[in-house]
Amino acid sequence: MFFMFDTLEGYIQPGSVEEALVRQIDFSRLPAHIAIIMDGNGRWARKRNLPRTEGHKAGSESVKEVVEACARLGIKYLTLYAFSRENWKRPKEEVNTLWNLLKDYLADENKILVENDLRLKVIGERKGIPYFVRRELARVERLTRNNRRMTVVLALNYGGRQEIIEAVRKLLKRKVRPEDLNEETFSKYLDTADLPDPDLLIRTSGEMRLSNFLLWQCAYTELWITPVLWPDFRRKDLFQAIIEYQKRERRFGGLNHLTGEDNKNQDNKNQNESTSKN
Ligand code: IPE
Ligand code: IPE
Ligand code: MG
Repeated sequence: MFFMFDTLEGYIQPGSVEEALVRQIDFSRLPAHIAIIMDGNGRWARKRNLPRTEGHKAGSESVKEVVEACARLGIKYLTLYAFSRENWKRPKEEVNTLWNLLKDYLADENKILVENDLRLKVIGERKGIPYFVRRELARVERLTRNNRRMTVVLALNYGGRQEIIEAVRKLLKRKVRPEDLNEETFSKYLDTADLPDPDLLIRTSGEMRLSNFLLWQCAYTELWITPVLWPDFRRKDLFQAIIEYQKRERRFGGLNHLTGEDNKNQDNKNQNESTSKN
């Protein structure tokens, strides 16, 4: 089934829970970048007495739903944590299933990405990714590289610490002078060089940790953790997360809530290199 993700019309049923939620969203203040730690597939399967791999299969449906919902809403960047550097510690069968599901996802969805002007980008250590997946990733990235509507970033074989070490390694190799190093130049050496920092980080399944995800980039990201397990995560949960995000006051260390002044000390802030690139 192929969709053109044009508008929200026909996508949201009148009188539905989804409609009531969408009405609460302020479309002039959407998060530009949403990042998601998709967690809880194993627990979802265990609750049903199914093998963990069934949880991962069900989880790929949530991925499809969330990509569509974000594109329709007008989110510009969506980053999905799909496989961490540490996930290699899992049984081989589970690891194989995860990579195979990703390959199937790319085969099923590349047309959707192309037709809907979505760009695919991968972050993480590529050379550790099985070749049959790497080849597909490169193909779909090439196919979608000029697409502008939304960038779907897949974090694969990704670790925040390793990404930082890799950046330092590149800096040293290029003999970057210490006095030339600042937050902005450093960011250019990360896998996320051309992405804004996430505004909103969602983690499913209730775990209160980052698990090595976007450690540098999440310095001022708003966190929203839901007990919903990833395979149960639906667009209404996404809408809820955005509504909650819009209730937050992002201060970036300033005092906007007390003074009512909007970043009056802009010069000072720039000198200190704001961590938010948005
Ligand atoms: C998230 O679900 C998927 C990946 C980490 C790849 P989990 O497999 O971690 O599910 P739980 O945490 O065991 O429930
Ligand atoms: C984080 O989930 C990684 C992904 C979602 C890909 P994990 O399930 O691996 O995290 P921990 O081990 O509970 O911290
Ligand atoms: Mg987990």
